[in-house]
Amino acid sequence: MTTLHATAAGLVGDGKGILAADESIGTMSRRLEDAGVAPTEEHRRAYRELLVTTADLARGISGVILCEETLHQQVADGRGFPTALAALGLATGVKVDTGTAPLAGAPGETVTEGLDGLADRVASCAARGAVFAKWRAVLAIGHGTPGAWAIEANTHALARYARVCQDAGVVPVVEPEVLTAGSHPLEVCAAITRRVLSALRRALDEAGVDPAGMVLKPNMVTPGAGAAPVDPDGVARATVEVLTATMPDDLAGVAFLSGGQSSEDAAAHLTAIRALPTPWPVTFSFGRALVSPALAAWAGDPGAVGAGQAALTREVGRNVAVAA
Ligand code: G3H
Repeated sequence: MTTLHATAAGLVGDGKGILAADESIGTMSRRLEDAGVAPTEEHRRAYRELLVTTADLARGISGVILCEETLHQQVADGRGFPTALAALGLATGVKVDTGTAPLAGAPGETVTEGLDGLADRVASCAARGAVFAKWRAVLAIGHGTPGAWAIEANTHALARYARVCQDAGVVPVVEPEVLTAGSHPLEVCAAITRRVLSALRRALDEAGVDPAGMVLKPNMVTPGAGAAPVDPDGVARATVEVLTATMPDDLAGVAFLSGGQSSEDAAAHLTAIRALPTPWPVTFSFGRALVSPALAAWAGDPGAVGAGQAALTREVGRNVAVAA
């Protein structure tokens, strides 16, 4: 097994998942403000330190995705985050896309950017201790969207990113997110997700990306956030059907995003998905579903770090797969 394969397998193995703590500076600042915390660099750092120093986090978490700002910051004792994470038995990942921009030729749609200079940035993140990376493409369901051009542009960029990472010995976490916004039924999400993942598969193949050295981070197949919910078994069946129809069997693993679902819904859906047979390990790479309760409990109060960490421990515990 190559190092790339071993790293990828380690991220999704043993029932553990990946903690996504990689909100961009803008997004993290908005979330801090919503929680009543001033959006300063120090508060972003302190909040990420709270998360990663949670006792026994490595029992349920294999790796943590950071944003580039955090990769350059230190925990209170002066160690860089990657060093502190490694000491805790956690792999360091980093978000290397630079966010979305309007896609010319597709009014109202976006493409994720960050390919310029990517090889150099990935190499520099790897030199700082990152062993995996993440790139998120965003596709919204609307009237006639996502269109073929937006799917093509976004999956092409994901494949180019993934190949750059693998060439640098870094495991790509490939995130094609079909958003839940809207009132569409589950069947529409299933059809769109299938189109997106089929295009992604073709692009990955054309770029020569090794499936066993990457982790797919997809959305679950659910009805739109404004539509009537479907029971977890229905979500699980549709999700596994779309993924098994589009992804190769030798993928290292699938780690779902939570996409704005409540912590309870995301965990219930994941449990139902895990109950179905799949050719690859299935786990979580949640952001909001894991960290929102911790942020609310902490709310910038140094005396509430323990409460924030207790909330994170509870959410991780909900999602770790218990050995059969
Ligand atoms: O890019 C998004 C994160 O990695 C996952 O966040 O679980 O809140 O959707 P989420």
